[in-house]
Order: sequence, then C-alpha cells, then structure tokens
Amino acid sequence: MAISGTLLSRLKDSSLVREEMLVGGSWREEGASGKRVEVQNPSTGDLLASLPSAGLEDVRIAVDLAKVAQKKWASRSAKERAAVMRKFYDLVVANSEDLAVILTSEMGKPLAEARGEVAYGASYIEWFGEEAKRVYGDTIPGHQADKRLLVLKQPVGVVAAIAPWNFPSAMVARKVAPALASGCAIIFKPAAETPLSALALAILAERAGVPGGLFSVLPTQDARMFGEEVCSNPTVKKLTFTGSTEVGRILMAQGAQKIMKLSLELGGNAPFIVFDDADLDEAVEGAMLSKFRNAGQTCVCANRLYVQSGIYDRFVRKLAERVSALKVSDGFEDGATIGPLINGEAVAKLHSHIDDAVNRGATVVVGGTRDPRGGTFVQPTLLSGATKEMKVAREETFAPLAPVFKFETADEVIELANDTEFGLAAYFYANDLRNVWKVTEALEYGMVGVNTGLISTEVAPFGGVKQSGFGREGSKYGLDDFLSMKYVCMGGIPA
Ligand code: SIN
Repeated sequence: MAISGTLLSRLKDSSLVREEMLVGGSWREEGASGKRVEVQNPSTGDLLASLPSAGLEDVRIAVDLAKVAQKKWASRSAKERAAVMRKFYDLVVANSEDLAVILTSEMGKPLAEARGEVAYGASYIEWFGEEAKRVYGDTIPGHQADKRLLVLKQPVGVVAAIAPWNFPSAMVARKVAPALASGCAIIFKPAAETPLSALALAILAERAGVPGGLFSVLPTQDARMFGEEVCSNPTVKKLTFTGSTEVGRILMAQGAQKIMKLSLELGGNAPFIVFDDADLDEAVEGAMLSKFRNAGQTCVCANRLYVQSGIYDRFVRKLAERVSALKVSDGFEDGATIGPLINGEAVAKLHSHIDDAVNRGATVVVGGTRDPRGGTFVQPTLLSGATKEMKVAREETFAPLAPVFKFETADEVIELANDTEFGLAAYFYANDLRNVWKVTEALEYGMVGVNTGLISTEVAPFGGVKQSGFGREGSKYGLDDFLSMKYVCMGGIPA
C-alpha cells in the first residue's frame, strides 16, 4: 500500500491524502470488512491509493459516536458553530490548489474545473456557517387569551449522506455544511471511485476544530450495506442522497420502515430550449456551459437541445464550431476542457445513445466515433435531426453528447420538454417577455435557467420535482432539511 508518488509530488501538503477512513473521530487503517477501496486515476488507470473499506461495525460505531458528538455540538451557541465553520472555510480556501489536484487525480475533470468546484464547495461552507446564526423560530398570535404559541427549529440529529463521484468535493461541502450549521452530526459515504476529496475535507474540518465524531467519512465497496444500515438504524434521523433515481427509490423504500426524513437529488433529463428571438451567441455559449461542463457528467447538464426552426441551422453551425474546439485530454494538461469519463460503462452508454440516434436518422455533425486516446476518453459529439423516438430523448446520457431537436411552437416544445418522468433542471433562451413567463411557469422542473446555462450557486435552492427527487440544497431553504419544527403551546398565562 502506498499513495501514488505522482499524486504526492503534485501536492504542497501531502498530509491531505491518507489511506485511512475517519470513524467517530479516529483515523483507521483497517475497516471491519477487511476489504480495500482501490482509488484509480480514470485518465491513466494508475492506482492512487488503497483505502480500508468500511464494514457494518464501522458504520455502527460512527453512528453511536455521532450521537454523543451531536448532543454537545447542538448545545454550543450558533455563533460558536459559525466560528468553527468559518475556520473550516478559510482552510479549504487556503488549501484549494491541493484539493483541486486531488479532485482531478481521482475524478479526471480538468484542473481548471476542479479549482472551480473546490471554490463552489467552499461557498456552501461559508454560506451555511453564516446562516447558522439565523435559524429563526416563530411566534404565532394565540387562539385563546391565555395561550402563547411558538415554533422552535431544532437539529434533526444524526444525518447520513451518500454522495456521487461527479462532484467529489462540492457534494461533501453541500451536505456537511448545512448539517454542521444546524447542529447535526453527519456520517458521510463518498463514492468508492472518489473518496480522497471527502477525506481531505475531513482532515481540514478536524484542523478547523470540528469535534471528533461529528463528521465521519466511510468509504466502502459495500454501498448496499451502508444504505440498509442507515435506513434501519434508529439513531440516524435523516438521509441526504445524491445519485440515480433507481437507487433513490430503493433508499426511500428502506427508509419508509422508520418514516425517515429524506432529501433526494436524483437523475435529470434537462431540456435546453432556444427560441427564434434568442440572442444566438449567448444561447450557444449557454449550451456549451450547460452541456459540456464536467464532460456532460452533471445531473443538471442539458440532455436535449430543442431549437426553433427559424434559428435551427445557424445554431447548429455555431455550436459545431465551438464543440470542435473542445480539447479532450488528461485533466492536468494545459487547456484541457474535456477529461476522461469515469468508467467503461459511461463510455458504452454514450456510444449506445449515439448509435441508436444515428440508426433512427440523426446526423453526426461533430465527433461520434471512438476517441483515439482509448481508455475512457470520448469525443464530444453533436447530433442534428434528433427526434423523440431516440434514447437521447428519454434517458440521461451523462456524457458530452448534444442532440439537437427542431420545434415550431412554444406549446409544442413545452409538451416535449415535460414529456419525461424527471424534473430537475430546464433552460431556455428567449426575449419576448410574455413567452418567457409562459414557458417558465409551464416547465415542470425544480429549477429553470432563463437566458443562462449555469444556475448552480450556494445562495439558491438546488433540487428537483417529479422523479428527480425532493428537498433543497443551498440557500435559506437548504437548512430546513436538517431541522425539525416543534410547535409549543403555552397555556394558563394570566391576563
Ligand atoms: C449534480 O450534478 O448533481 C450537481 C451539479 C451542480 O451542483 O451544479
């Protein structure tokens, strides 16, 4: 067992990578499962580190110690909690270059994007640290003269979190920050592909003074065991999950046994609509951002591009120029814009969507064939002539594939855009104010970007509707998911 020399040589502070897990305040070299989580660089296939794989006993210990730590943490003033979180934020900023290097190494995204992700994640720690001081309750005018009615907001207690591999750093911050701010403890399971970023953040949290036991990080190969345990263990009061709708459904069914509080951020199938009156250059820019960020591997990436007939040909031409200029390479190479996909299944899915679309009549405008680099590198691809019968219309590709559909009227495109079980993000470009309102209100999505391809920020409530889940991350609404409401009725108060 040895941490990759290449990774260590790129770091200023090599102690940010540990081949251990953090269980209830103790760093452990071995897990109860006796197995290992091997972390690879998806660009080179090199082994980066070999971590202990948490077993059931580790999860149980982490949960028990979280319960003790949570009680103490919740009894501290909001101001004290906010001060610790400020230190945590400052340390993340101070170590952001190392965090970005760790992220690119384990996930593959270009270093410039990794830097952006670390800053994005840090912003949640800053925001929620500040919000910790504003967890207000309420007073309600009594219904009887001797009554006083109050609403208290209290931390839910011990929270479990399950995060995906596509944002190994920001997803940690987005779940841990509201938990800590509201006075909860958190047991965090990072994706087995990308646990190093979560562990590095836990090291910084510890240095900032986050008490032992409050934030455990349990990488494991046995995701099923983790899910079953946190959904059945009575001490765990809430689960926050980001991942597929399929797994979200299983967790929801398991959590139903104890009526568990849940936040689920699940799959998407985002429409990106361009009306004839849109600013063409801005729409192309927005499409690039929305579609090709993280090589198309985000839940809010545009999946279906609908372009009105009057602007269709010009849009496809301009988008083709931009897609052809993307640079596919190792995330550490200068100017890289598209890194490798996370694994072979992701590559196979992309090609099955391209093949299906081409067999059903789509035209390949850019890309479309296997990438000469091999491995999990793929060519960014633009297809024109997409239709609703194709897989790309129904399934989330999660890769750099932009299928462009043609439409005629607003009513037609609203129907097409809503014709999916998903409801996470939608985007459209238009200038007629009446149309803007009509379309915004008609789209059945939890988030709508109007004349922008980038909607993610810590100050806004990120989340979906329909089978994209429920619960919000970020903004003042994001704290509610970690708080319980207690209504207090005080009677017998003399006149
Ligand atoms: C996600 O893919 O789930 C997160 C994307 C984002 O935060 O913008």
